[in-house]
Amino acid sequence: MLHDPIMSAQKIQVAVIGGGLVGLSTALCIIECLPQCSVTVISEEFSPNTTGDVAAGCLIPHVYPDTPLHQQKAWFKETFNYLFKIANSSEASEAGIYLISGWQIFKSAPKEVYPFWSETVLGFRIMDETELAKFQSYKFGQAFTTLKCQASQYLPWMEKRFKSKGGYVEKRKVIDVWDLHGTYDVVVNCSGLGSRDLFGDQSIYPVQGQVLEVNAPWIKHFIRDGDGSTYIYPGISYVTLGGTRKKDDWSCLPNAQTSKVILERCCHLEPSLYGAPVIQEKAGLRPTRSALRIVKDVLVKNGQQLPVIHNYGHGGGGFSIHWGTANEATKLLQQLIPFIHHFKLVSKL
Ligand SMILES: Cc1cc2nc3c(=O)[nH]c(=O)nc-3n(C[C@H](O)[C@H](O)[C@H](O)COP(=O)(O)OP(=O)(O)OC[C@H]3O[C@@H](n4cnc5c(N)ncnc54)[C@H](O)[C@@H]3O)c2cc1C
Ligand SMILES: *[C@@H]1O[C@H](CO)[C@@H](O)[C@H](O)[C@H]1NC(C)=O
Ligand SMILES: *[C@@H]1O[C@H](CO)[C@@H](O)[C@H](O)[C@H]1NC(C)=O
Ligand SMILES: *[C@@H]1O[C@H](CO)[C@@H](O)[C@H](O)[C@H]1NC(C)=O
Repeated sequence: MLHDPIMSAQKIQVAVIGGGLVGLSTALCIIECLPQCSVTVISEEFSPNTTGDVAAGCLIPHVYPDTPLHQQKAWFKETFNYLFKIANSSEASEAGIYLISGWQIFKSAPKEVYPFWSETVLGFRIMDETELAKFQSYKFGQAFTTLKCQASQYLPWMEKRFKSKGGYVEKRKVIDVWDLHGTYDVVVNCSGLGSRDLFGDQSIYPVQGQVLEVNAPWIKHFIRDGDGSTYIYPGISYVTLGGTRKKDDWSCLPNAQTSKVILERCCHLEPSLYGAPVIQEKAGLRPTRSALRIVKDVLVKNGQQLPVIHNYGHGGGGFSIHWGTANEATKLLQQLIPFIHHFKLVSKL
């Protein structure tokens, strides 16, 4: 698409910081819903170098203790329904979105036998004894069908759709958010852990996770320990085995000893994995907070104002809710649009 400078000049200039799962989905949602905006994604890293590229990308919600549960439920449902449509379309294989069935197993029955998301996933039921007989020392399990996003396809697919709708992408690090003032009318902050330096948010921290990708094409069913420690998720060309959760560990380098432990735990649940060739080991940092932060904010400096919409803190569950949170951030931006002119005027005074 040709960039028309006159049309663009009249448009509201939106900068989205962050080109990971959250930044790309938010940018795409804005450009689809708010045609009066010109949107630029500015990011230091893109796929295959973002957190989502490490993840298995399975839609099983993670619970954010300080975010109201009804919101988490709504965001999960929106995301599930949106991706279910993509999985059911001719775009599915390019987008890397597909259905996956399996088991979540527990050593003892959890407090909530039917979690809040049980009515959104497909065919949720309690496992029977013959199924549980596969697992020594597991006494309870849930069987269901959910969706999985292959990040190495899904992220580039979103970027392509975003660009085809007139969006711009820039690869660079934003050192000071005020450098964007003047060029952009609004900043959308989807910088994940980058928020710590950029916005001085000390309440966000990394929870490091390591995974292995193995060649085991016979695995068709996912198996996840309900405590989140061990999981086996079949993907398109490999099976993801995990995992670890190390709070405040900033290392993105996989550790050989940790890989050995992960492999042992997974083989214990699924003995057919013994000897499966390891393709790759990866580690990533979940941008974690006790609550997601999706709010409007106005930065003020020397009498100048810069409206910001934050959308970060997705931690270990970004895939499960990203489309719902992208919609939420887009709604906040829409509420701000009538006042954009005011912010520009204040800044000129
Ligand atoms: C091992 C592991 C397994 C996981 N499994 C699942 C799963 O099965 N299901 C699920 O739902 N979730 C899962 N997750 C969580 C999911 O991957 C994350 O919630 C999600 O990827 C976070 O996306 P994000 O866009 O917020 O962060 P990021 O991908 O970290 O993106 C942040 C972006 O901001 C950019 N940035 C930061 N600061 C600046 C700056 N100053 N200037 C310019 N750019 C900047 C970075 O370069 C990066 O591109 C998993 C995570 C890990 C680590
Ligand atoms: C990802 O990181 C590698 C290693 O730093 C780099 O060579 C590559 O260009 C990066 N890819 C993208 C798309 O930025
Ligand atoms: C799936 O696709 C079929 C055929 O196009 C359509 O009739 C159906 O409504 C779709 N379902 C969903 C959930 O997208
Ligand atoms: C962006 O969000 C991060 C948290 O991820 C925060 O630390 C940072 O201060 C925010 N940036 C701005 C400009 O508000």
